[in-house]
Amino acid sequence: MSCTIIVGGFFGDEGKGKIVAHIAHQDRPSIIARGGVGPNAGHTVQVGEKEYGVRMVPSGFVYPEAALMIGSGVLVDPRVFLREVDLVDVQGRIFVDGRCGVIEEEHIARDKASGHLRDKIGSTGTGCGPANADRVLRTSRQAKDVPELADFITDVAEDVNSALDRDEVVLLEGTQGFGISLYFGTYPFVTSKDTSASQIAADNGVGPTRIDDVIVVFKAYPTRVGEGPFSTEMTAERSHELGIEEFGTVTHRQRRIGTWDGKMARYSAMINGCTQAAITGIDRIDPACFGATEYDQLTKAARDFIAQAENDIGKPVTLISTGPEMSQIIDLRGKL
Ligand code: IMP
Ligand code: MG
Repeated sequence: MSCTIIVGGFFGDEGKGKIVAHIAHQDRPSIIARGGVGPNAGHTVQVGEKEYGVRMVPSGFVYPEAALMIGSGVLVDPRVFLREVDLVDVQGRIFVDGRCGVIEEEHIARDKASGHLRDKIGSTGTGCGPANADRVLRTSRQAKDVPELADFITDVAEDVNSALDRDEVVLLEGTQGFGISLYFGTYPFVTSKDTSASQIAADNGVGPTRIDDVIVVFKAYPTRVGEGPFSTEMTAERSHELGIEEFGTVTHRQRRIGTWDGKMARYSAMINGCTQAAITGIDRIDPACFGATEYDQLTKAARDFIAQAENDIGKPVTLISTGPEMSQIIDLRGKL
């Protein structure tokens, strides 16, 4: 059996989606299950000429052989979910745990109308905070109460644990990032739930003894959307000089950009129980690394950066993303 968790090490948007997709094509999981908060997370997908921000379907959907699952800890917005199932055409291989919390229109209205959530915290306005609040109050509906979701309902915990019993490969995909964890992040400027690896396991009903690997994904230049402290943040002029400009998938807000934060990386690796790390955006450290697929093609500046990151994290960096394309990655897993 092999069960790997993939989580974000900084403030989200580390490029987990590509890492999950790469690992899936290499390791051929039978199930890719997602944990995390809900439709506040987004990844960009290309359908024909157009780009879409997908928020409910696990980003591993690009690997066509796996069943896709949404664990019971996650909030489901049925409208968003059904639209995306059609959009990326995953009907028949996507499943939702019957116990998932449900986001109603009213949760979205409350999220958007709240001066505290919308203005002070800078929430994504997707209804997640109010829906998790109602879930804790035990007044909200569950996915199994929604007739439109009937065809998709399963027991994700049962399915994932059975797959592990059969010695199959399972990937558990986290969303958000460590810095916006309700428990460990920069409270109150956080999301409505823990985002660490333990939570992603719990969201899918997988006990801690069944996890083999925790891959924490770090961005060479971390980013943050929304409000809250960001100790290594650079000025907009500096990020412009570096040619770094990013916009949120869900909110389209401009992301704040920072430099590598070794202290945060170490703390995040500790709480996530990191066994190996991935670094994305190394081509921003040195553009000469763009598209590299072998470690030997990296420049000295990039190799020094990786060495420093490994020193901070205390674990090996086994995946290095060198550009946006799936093929632009250095995979050192099993080679170290
Ligand atoms: P909420 O989760 O929508 O309540 O937003 C709370 C905070 O978390 C805001 O600062 C959001 O910008 C941030 N946030 C929530 N989800 C994500 C994500 O997937 N990536 C990055 N930031 C996020
Ligand atoms: Mg995102």
